[in-house]
Amino acid sequence: MPDKLKQIQGELQAAIQKCADLRALDGIRVKYLGRKGIITELLKQIGTMPPNERRDFGRQVNELKQHAADAIGSRKAELEAAEAEAKVSQEAVDVTLPGRRPIIGRKHIITQTLDEIIGILKGMGFAVAYGPDLETDYYNYEALNFPPDHPARDMQDTFWIDETHLLRTHTSPVQIRVMEQMQPPVRVIMPGRCFRNESINVRSHVMFHQIEGLYVDEGVTFGDLKGTLYAFLQTWLGTDVEIRFRPSYFPFTEPSAEVDVTCILCKGSGCRVCKHTGWLELLGAGMVDPALYSYVGYDPERYTGYAWGLGIERLVMMKYGIEDIRVFFQNDIRFLEQF
Ligand code: PHE
Repeated sequence: MPDKLKQIQGELQAAIQKCADLRALDGIRVKYLGRKGIITELLKQIGTMPPNERRDFGRQVNELKQHAADAIGSRKAELEAAEAEAKVSQEAVDVTLPGRRPIIGRKHIITQTLDEIIGILKGMGFAVAYGPDLETDYYNYEALNFPPDHPARDMQDTFWIDETHLLRTHTSPVQIRVMEQMQPPVRVIMPGRCFRNESINVRSHVMFHQIEGLYVDEGVTFGDLKGTLYAFLQTWLGTDVEIRFRPSYFPFTEPSAEVDVTCILCKGSGCRVCKHTGWLELLGAGMVDPALYSYVGYDPERYTGYAWGLGIERLVMMKYGIEDIRVFFQNDIRFLEQF
């Protein structure tokens, strides 16, 4: 074989060895055997040769062509096999890997706490009632004995939708809605969202939750209120908590009290959360002001009742030592999944 053909064969051999994938191999095929390929051009030259050289040269070029086609073909089979194997091992399942746990959702800590409290109070004979978040002035203030322009309204500023509609500042309006719907005995709890126009900081937010309690019947006394709250709070917080009533003021209860419990975190010895007093303020309560009965058509001579309103966020903050109320509504999963 002439040197020229030997050289071509050597180069082709080397290129085939070096090529690492099918695409590169096809490039080599085109370069040598394509329509304008090196070997194709040589085949075209055969016809132009003098007859005495033509036979030998023709045979040699055809041998070269055959050799090239065979070499490319067997390299192609090799590369195809390698690629198939790589694909299989890439897609293989490693059964020894630990499984990936799907993220399972859960109830928000506020909802969990509401559920717990509702469970306890249901067990004590209370029914559950709900009212709208968007209230009227009448239910949120007026029928609860806040006259227009009464300074007590300032304690509960809110977001007004129009002249008469607002986001409720407490769950107490549901007291009126319930009493309008039924005659005593009334024994209901009313959980839900509340809103106030406050600046948002670690201690206050524009949105929070309360659970309201109401019991109206013949002969209901302040003693019943105390007994119920003691039973409920000691079920929920443990029998070693102490409970105290402080005189307070609400337009819709008379007399009114604020109820404190011994600090859940330090058990009364004094800490940051209770500001070293040993006590935590938990809720507002009192005997239903008879003025409310005139709005709902109850006989104030016949019936007495008590009511309370308990803030849920504060309670959860105390229980778990959370120092910033904003975390409840930021929906950071790192916070939420702790509960
Ligand atoms: N609604 C009052 C508040 O949000 C709490 C309260 C409820 C007080 C029922 C007395 C009776 O501050």
